[in-house]
Amino acid sequence: MCGIVGYVGPRDAQDVLISGLAKLEYRGYDSAGVAVRTDAGIEVRKRAGKLAILAGELEKEPLKGCLGIGHTRWATHGLPNDTNAHPHATEDGKLVIIHNGIIENYLHLKDALTARGHVFRSETDSEVLAHLIEEKYQGNLEVAVREALAEVRGAYGIVVTHIDHDEIVAARTVSPLVMGVGQGEMFLASDVPALLPYTRTMVFLHDGDMVVLSKDSYKITDLKGTPVQRDETLIDWDAEAAEKGGFDTYMLKEIYEQPQALTNTLIGRLHDETGEVNLDINLDPASFKRISIIACGTAFYAGLVGEYLIEQLARIPVEVDVASEYRYRSPLVSENTLAIVISQSGETIDTLEALREAKKQGARTLGVINAKGSSMTREVDDVLYIHAGPEIGVASTKAYTAMVSAMLMLALWLGRARGTLNEELGRELLQGARELPRLVEESLQPERVENIKRVAQKYHQARDYLFLGRGVNSPTAFEGALKLKEISYIHAEAYAAGEMKHGPIALIDQNLPVVVIATESFLLEKTISNIQEVKARSGKVIAVVSDGDTEAARHADDVIYVPRAAEMVSPVVNAVAMQLLAYFTATALDRDVDKPRNLAKSVTVE
Ligand code: F6R
Repeated sequence: MCGIVGYVGPRDAQDVLISGLAKLEYRGYDSAGVAVRTDAGIEVRKRAGKLAILAGELEKEPLKGCLGIGHTRWATHGLPNDTNAHPHATEDGKLVIIHNGIIENYLHLKDALTARGHVFRSETDSEVLAHLIEEKYQGNLEVAVREALAEVRGAYGIVVTHIDHDEIVAARTVSPLVMGVGQGEMFLASDVPALLPYTRTMVFLHDGDMVVLSKDSYKITDLKGTPVQRDETLIDWDAEAAEKGGFDTYMLKEIYEQPQALTNTLIGRLHDETGEVNLDINLDPASFKRISIIACGTAFYAGLVGEYLIEQLARIPVEVDVASEYRYRSPLVSENTLAIVISQSGETIDTLEALREAKKQGARTLGVINAKGSSMTREVDDVLYIHAGPEIGVASTKAYTAMVSAMLMLALWLGRARGTLNEELGRELLQGARELPRLVEESLQPERVENIKRVAQKYHQARDYLFLGRGVNSPTAFEGALKLKEISYIHAEAYAAGEMKHGPIALIDQNLPVVVIATESFLLEKTISNIQEVKARSGKVIAVVSDGDTEAARHADDVIYVPRAAEMVSPVVNAVAMQLLAYFTATALDRDVDKPRNLAKSVTVE
């Protein structure tokens, strides 16, 4: 999650870059930099810290020119310092690049470039792009960028300029880029708000698009050089709507951001060829004998999925606690314990204090965290960032699916390291994990979303709801109930499906909607029996089933089809249906979904 701005035209480029970056600072905030084409050549200024530090310096000593590129960074590879900040220039200073994303094969490329005499100044993966393009450059920047990108694997929004050309070349795969079309000027950014003060005519670049911008024209091609046509869109959003990306609420925007967020969580960490998982943590997988997962709310449910996955794949005993209980229950901790805290904000006081308790008692600690620089990241021994990007809606959505994906990677990593993971299953799950962004994208297809909206509107007057799920999807049922409670204020309970007959079955009557997660599972038959038990008592069954299912769907009043996924990765896919069901129920009831009553995004009191 970095921010990108580019400009070519008659204005002072520095002003456009700094005002645009200010609008994108939410995407990353550990360093910032600009490159402006001045009379002296391409001049680069970059500084660690907030954009204001760079802006202050530029105010004192401005860079005068009409073409420039700028960046705010959220570090992935390399510390957040001046050197690692973008733009990155070649040694002769003639070519500069900025990059958002992760170059998965950068080590291999870096070694080869170093062997051919290139000198690297930063620790970033991005710098390889500058050297690679330099090597390919023979007078045509567009061709050089295209040839370089053919050797790159990973995600990128890349913007390049060269002293010999009055143009900017940009390309994207996964990382977003939008182009602004002005009168005699052109703009680029990773998000619309950066461009709104200057133009409302935008072109949204698609994956695999490349664009060459000069002040009067632009040309879009695919990565092979074939011209492609993209529509110009007139954006009529006001500033607030722009921040919500045109969605009605942050929550809906964040639901739709999940394919991108999951790509960011997974990228660079799973390697198809070798089947390896690289989490970039110093943890010795042989150094502990048991795991305690500690978290609150939604993060706690991600922990429950983690428990299931780690025990299955790595055969280590795991217990999961809500942090507020863990702290005070004299937990049994030793140096053989790995304590994993899961948190979006990294600030939740219950989790933070539980972390301190575990540390005090000698546990090794790992944080699975979204917010960079948060208190927990500073106190744990290791951090596995989930890279979901900022989450503003109070009800957690993309952070949850990113946390679950991170727990899946952790379970795979532990299973491989400890030799408990069957090779074939390991590869199958690794492949399944890599497919998650696509599966979630599919889950968000308009006809699926419309169907969930229809179901939500049918039952939005219900007083209570029951959610049931089994195994790795029993936490999905809990998360579904929590989401519904939080934003619609409808009372909802969740149970492991097999538990229903031990009490909650007494609640069932013709007024109770029962959401049953009945996707592909080795226990599906048992779940279908539970559906029949609900039906026999006149309950209304909303079955969440895998595409192509006929069995579970046959007994349900309403069916939500979700893309077919391996059982162990399915909690991510199924969670999206839960989020949408809660969302459309809440909107049918006219609730303020972004700011539900009585809740706060980050709970820093006990
Ligand atoms: C639910 C929700 C809360 C948080 C909980 C923990 O939608 O957002 O239940 O999950 O307060 O917050 P973090 O993850 O920031 O520690």
